[in-house]
Amino acid sequence: MTESSSLGRPDRNLALELVRTTEAAALAAARLVGMGDKIAADQAAVDAMRIVLETVSMDGVVVIGEGEKDEAPMLYNGEHIGDGSSPSVDIAVDPLEGTTLTAKGMPSALSVIALAPKGTMFDPGPCFYMAKLAGGEDIADLLDLDRPLADTLRLIAKRKSIDIRDVMVVVLDRPRHDEGIAEIRDAGARVRLISDGDVSAALLAASPNTPVDLLWGIGGTPEGVISAAALKCIGGSLVGRLWPRDETERTAAIAAGYDLDRQLTKDDLVTGDDCFFSATGVTDGDVLQGVRYQGQRSATTESLVMRSRSGTVRRIMATHNRDKLRGYHGERYG
Ligand code: FBP
Repeated sequence: MTESSSLGRPDRNLALELVRTTEAAALAAARLVGMGDKIAADQAAVDAMRIVLETVSMDGVVVIGEGEKDEAPMLYNGEHIGDGSSPSVDIAVDPLEGTTLTAKGMPSALSVIALAPKGTMFDPGPCFYMAKLAGGEDIADLLDLDRPLADTLRLIAKRKSIDIRDVMVVVLDRPRHDEGIAEIRDAGARVRLISDGDVSAALLAASPNTPVDLLWGIGGTPEGVISAAALKCIGGSLVGRLWPRDETERTAAIAAGYDLDRQLTKDDLVTGDDCFFSATGVTDGDVLQGVRYQGQRSATTESLVMRSRSGTVRRIMATHNRDKLRGYHGERYG
């Protein structure tokens, strides 16, 4: 992405700057955990992330954001972020992945951001949903949305030298998945139902030595792109196929040139090999610990901070001084 990298010298790792944006968003959203207001929690995360993003020197365009400009005053798709200096990047944000999880005080809400060189991130356009399969690098060649799910589960069990009864599939708990869930159970495999948060679930399925082998089901296309960026950094495999909700969406997608039959890999969703990813836990989950408060004075965050080019994966525990943050940011982070 930069000249110095082509000379073999270490270059700037934007992920180390991005972690401040997800920490800020997580700290802001954490004030609203369990308060029953997902819109307020999302807004708090968006506002906090936007303010800190402004401090990152770059020429960025939001490719995956909070929606269209008229419905999202900040971090809307197409918004320019940064001071216009190099590098030129595409930005995918989900300041609060798991708005309902946060509102209900449930596990695995995250704040996430991914950056990649300009023009390398898939633009979901009118396609709200995508069918997804995600797992470890070791099962990459087995992920095929056209093969019956039961057959894929048998192949995964064989590849991992485990009994199919040991295979665990994480699935969003939605009526649209009822048939698939029955298929998994009939094949003898186990199901972990989650109410929200398939980015966290993709990370869990892709990481070695976790209790989950596969993510299956239809979730958000933006979350699919963000998961692809994460898996390009941490390792793992993902395929997705656009899943229009109705005829209007199908027609709009085809008119815009999208191929609805194509299975997109993580490298189709984020091309090239220099993306940056940061996620900070809002509520405790399998992947990250959430924000924790220590008395009046401090709060801790845990973040996963990664870059695909180097393959470095950092877990950053930070202690934030709430008094000082209140002093110059107001109540937002405190
Ligand atoms: P929000 O944080 O925007 O509420 O999204 C959470 C989420 O569960 C995603 O992780 C997932 O991809 C998507 O919603 C699924 O959409 P739906 O709730 O419409 O089934």
